Parts: sequence; C-alpha cells; structure tokens
Amino acid sequence: MTQPDETAGEPIEVSVVGSLDGSVIPREAPLTDLRIDVPHVARMYDYYLDGKDNFAADRAAVAGVEKAMPEVRQLARENRAFLRRAVRHMVAEGIRQFIDIGAGLPTAGNTHEIAQKAAPDSRIVYVDNDPIVLAHGQALLAENGNTTVLQADMRQPADLIDSGAVRSLIDFNQPVGVLLIAMTHFLTAEEREPIMGTLRDSLSPGSLLALTHVTGDGHSDTAVTGVERVYSTTPTPIYFRTHAEVSRFFNGYTLIEPGLVTVDAWRPDGADPAPAATRWLYGGVGRRR
Ligand SMILES: C[S@@+](CC[C@H](N)C(=O)[O-])C[C@H]1O[C@@H](n2cnc3c(N)ncnc32)[C@H](O)[C@@H]1O
Repeated sequence: MTQPDETAGEPIEVSVVGSLDGSVIPREAPLTDLRIDVPHVARMYDYYLDGKDNFAADRAAVAGVEKAMPEVRQLARENRAFLRRAVRHMVAEGIRQFIDIGAGLPTAGNTHEIAQKAAPDSRIVYVDNDPIVLAHGQALLAENGNTTVLQADMRQPADLIDSGAVRSLIDFNQPVGVLLIAMTHFLTAEEREPIMGTLRDSLSPGSLLALTHVTGDGHSDTAVTGVERVYSTTPTPIYFRTHAEVSRFFNGYTLIEPGLVTVDAWRPDGADPAPAATRWLYGGVGRRR
C-alpha cells in the first residue's frame, strides 16, 4: 500500500495493494474513508500481531491497551492458536465449508490455509466490514477459487447470509463451520439474540460455531475498564463478560468438550503450541442442535 500518512485529520485516499507475499497488486479504485485518524480494530489487531497495516492512531490506541493489559499481544497469539485448533477440529468433524466473520487482516495461518491443508476441497468465505481487509483478502485469494472475501457487517446477518458471495460457496443444507473469533465482545447484550439467532436459524443441525470472547473473570476491574476506555474511542466498543454471559452466545448449540473455557484449556495441541495462558479469553465450539 502507499506509505501511510501519519498526519491525523481529514480522511485521505489510500491505494491498497496486496503485500502478503511481497507482491504488489494495484487496485483500480483507491479506497476512501479509511479514517486513519481514528483507531480501527482491524489495524490495532494487526499491530498486536506485528503486522504492517496500521497507522499512528492505531498504534497509540494499542499503547493505551498495553498499559491496562500488558499481555495483549500474547492474547492475540493465543486467540490465533485457538482459531487454528478450532478449524482443524471442524475439518476432523467433516466440515468442508466455513464462514469466518470478522476475519481480520491476513496473517500467518489463515482459516483457508488451515482448512485446505487438512481438506483441500474446503470452501471459505471471509467476512469483514473494514475495506482494508477486503483489499488484502482479494489480493491473497486471487488464485483460490474455493475462497472469497466479502465486505459485510455481522450486525446485518441476513444480508450476509443472502449475499451472492456466501451463496456461491456455502450450501446451507449442509453443516457449516462459523467462526466468530474475537468478535462477539463487540456486540451489546441487546444485539446478542437477534444477531446470533438469525445466524443460528440459517444453519443446519451439525453445523459448528467457534467463538472467543474477552472476559474480566479473574482480572482486575482497573485493567478491564482501562481496555474498555480505549476501545470506546474506536468505532467498536468492547464488552468484557462473565462465563455465564459468554455462554449465552451458544444458545441453541451444544458445547463440545471441554465446553467454554479459557482458550489455553481448549484442546491444546502439542504440535501447534500456544503462548503462555493469559486467561483473558474464553473460547468454545458448539454444535447446532
Ligand atoms: C479483533 S479482530 C479479529 C480478527 C480474527 N477474527 C481473529 O480473531 O484473529 C476483529 C475484526 O472484526 C472486524 N469487525 C469489527 N466489527 C465488525 C462488524 N460489525 N462486521 C464485520 N466485521 C467486523 C474488524 O474489522 C476486524 O478485522
């Protein structure tokens, strides 16, 4: 992409190109309204993972998060390790079609890479509402016919499910693997049931839902409010929840063993070790009843 303009102010035009493998793929139209003066969660998360697609405002917000929660980079890596284990588990359970909602900027071990390594016929739709993710995803997937990327909002699940991109790869008469990894903590309590219910009702029995969610259980209120305060300056406020509250996102699903646990305790895999446990994240996989 063009060199980030570090000045905060009016939205600027940024031409986004693919840079995952060092290649440069120019886009025909420049993206507008990236609002680099405001921290955005996709770019903050990219910075947690040592990515290059972030701007000064994102990095300043991350510094604020790190002050309250020094282990946030470790948390991001734990979260990615959970995603890899959950996807491999889904493939082992026979799932061959995936919707990864809030996919984030491409990083090492993307969902399609994990799934297609285990089962090359796996089909994946990545969904994100951030245009920068769309641009990078398109570049990454230019030659992968079984994978696509869709710019859509998890808060509009019916539109997402009915989109051409989703319908072209996903057969809802068959079980689907849905990933909401580090996503549902951006929903308010009031949004939970309408959004989760619409998603659930679209899925056939046997579909699997994997999610991770931040928790304040076992942590200080000061740390929690410190992180919540930083995210309240972004378009995506974050809500830390208790175990009982996070469990409700699995209404209509049966949690598979070991249930909803801190991600370090969810089917650890010695062949794909995760960093030391932060216990800031609950994770689980549920089977649609
Ligand atoms: C914390 S990152 C998680 C990335 C990835 N799921 C993971 O866990 O590694 C959150 C991602 O969700 C996207 N996002 C936030 N709100 C969204 C929404 N309402 N609809 C779709 N994507 C959203 C952001 O752009 C960002 O890429």
